[in-house]
Amino acid sequence: MKMTFASADTERTVLYVSNSPDKKLADFLAASAWHAVHAKSTASAERMIERDNIKVGLVELPQDCTSQQLSALASCMRRPETNWVAQIAPGQADDELVSRFILDYCFDFVTRPWLNERLVFALGHAHGLSALRQAPATPEPSLGRHGMVGQCEAMQQLYRRIDKCGATEAPVFVAGESGTGKELTARAIHERSPRAGRPFVAINCAAIPPSLLQAELFGHERGAFTGALQRKIGRIESAHEGTLFLDEIGDMPHECQAVLLRFLQEGTIERLGGNGPIHVNVRVISATHVDLDKAVEEGRFRADLYHRLCVLRLVEPPLRERGGDIKLLANYALSMYKQDGARKLRGLSSDAIVAMSNYAWPGNVRELINCVRRAVVMSEGRFINASDLGLPETDNGPAVTLAEIRSKAEKDAIEHALQRHGYKLSEAAAELGISRATLYRLMHADRLHAEPSGGRASSAGAEGDSDADGDRERRAPTLMSASA
Ligand SMILES: Nc1ncnc2c1ncn2[C@@H]1O[C@H](COP(=O)(O)OP(=O)(O)OP(=O)(O)O)[C@@H](O)[C@H]1O
Ligand SMILES: [Mg+2]
Repeated sequence: MKMTFASADTERTVLYVSNSPDKKLADFLAASAWHAVHAKSTASAERMIERDNIKVGLVELPQDCTSQQLSALASCMRRPETNWVAQIAPGQADDELVSRFILDYCFDFVTRPWLNERLVFALGHAHGLSALRQAPATPEPSLGRHGMVGQCEAMQQLYRRIDKCGATEAPVFVAGESGTGKELTARAIHERSPRAGRPFVAINCAAIPPSLLQAELFGHERGAFTGALQRKIGRIESAHEGTLFLDEIGDMPHECQAVLLRFLQEGTIERLGGNGPIHVNVRVISATHVDLDKAVEEGRFRADLYHRLCVLRLVEPPLRERGGDIKLLANYALSMYKQDGARKLRGLSSDAIVAMSNYAWPGNVRELINCVRRAVVMSEGRFINASDLGLPETDNGPAVTLAEIRSKAEKDAIEHALQRHGYKLSEAAAELGISRATLYRLMHADRLHAEPSGGRASSAGAEGDSDADGDRERRAPTLMSASA
């Protein structure tokens, strides 16, 4: 209902939610260039907010209001675009329910008897802030054209590689830690390939008992084994003309590896209990979080299958190396789940962003999304702060400067090179791309010995101090060139 005393030439609208509107106040608002509209019930307030895109609200909290009344009000005050000012009676803020409500939903409050100028000031402030929010400095992060959130250099490179993989038929192997987005990458390759629109069939080789995996992949005829009551089409066959995603391939049992290899070589499958090969046209993408090279070395994974699967290889960057993407992904997760929380959530506080940037995220993007989702539900304020995230305290010790990091990396590199070459300075220097003299100088500065500790005492200059191979200096890695 429009209040009769609203000024016509005004742009600023305030929605006044009250059981009994205050006529004097309304006059003052109109005289102060506020277009006041009144809602008696929360239901009509909600409708007006939606319909008229209301930016500023004024709510009169009933005396002795109950939690039901407050939650009814909260339901129309949740929209982050609308800033609310509450009117309360003296002493009402001592009620814990009311104070919590004001903290969660209101931009400001005034206590009776208020100065009308003070109220108009608060409304003006609420309006100004709302206008700022309307023009967000950064757009809400959304899934990019590869169906992923991320702008860091490593992700840009991944996107370029996904495009290249999409353009060929060669098998792709996606490596990366758990939760980095291997499955998303596999889907993105499929979507960017001529097979998009055809089936994308994923099978998690670790989730299916080894005894059933073969039947699941290749299918079976009726009566092929006890319990095979009818014919079943396997996953490979159902991916015909599309893409088969073999997830957690590193956990595939040996006997299944042999049959899979045959399929990859011949392009045909045979259903268990079947009586002939069936030609299947699928593009294979595989992934695992286990170290497949090591599995091959240790004989757990067939080398010939490995070479068939890893024609093209993509590596997902771990989240801890994705810099600003952590903030992007956290905001993306917040935009997905902020409706789950009971309160009006404004965003992530800067200490939350710092805590997230300092955390190592062993579970990568999956862990970050779950962490934000949990914080949305558990947080109490209008911003999610570091303590809401419940991340373990990172003991970073005293702050480390870039120079200290460089110097430690340099010392480690020298130590390793010395160990690898049995403490032969010329060879270690050659590997490091520096002259023997420079190596000697760095060892001296880093207090490194020219012998393993406990070995024969000798000085760093035992092999001579000539700079005959100074030309190698030019090949010094960046790390070294800073101080070499
Ligand atoms: N860049 C990203 N943008 C948005 N969501 C992402 C991104 N990367 C991963 N996710 C989300 O994180 C979760 C884990 O991703 P996904 O299942 O692809 O990881 P994975 O590497 O296959 O993990 P696992 O090794 O545990 O199987 C999913 O919910 C996925 O949607
Ligand atoms: Mg996966």
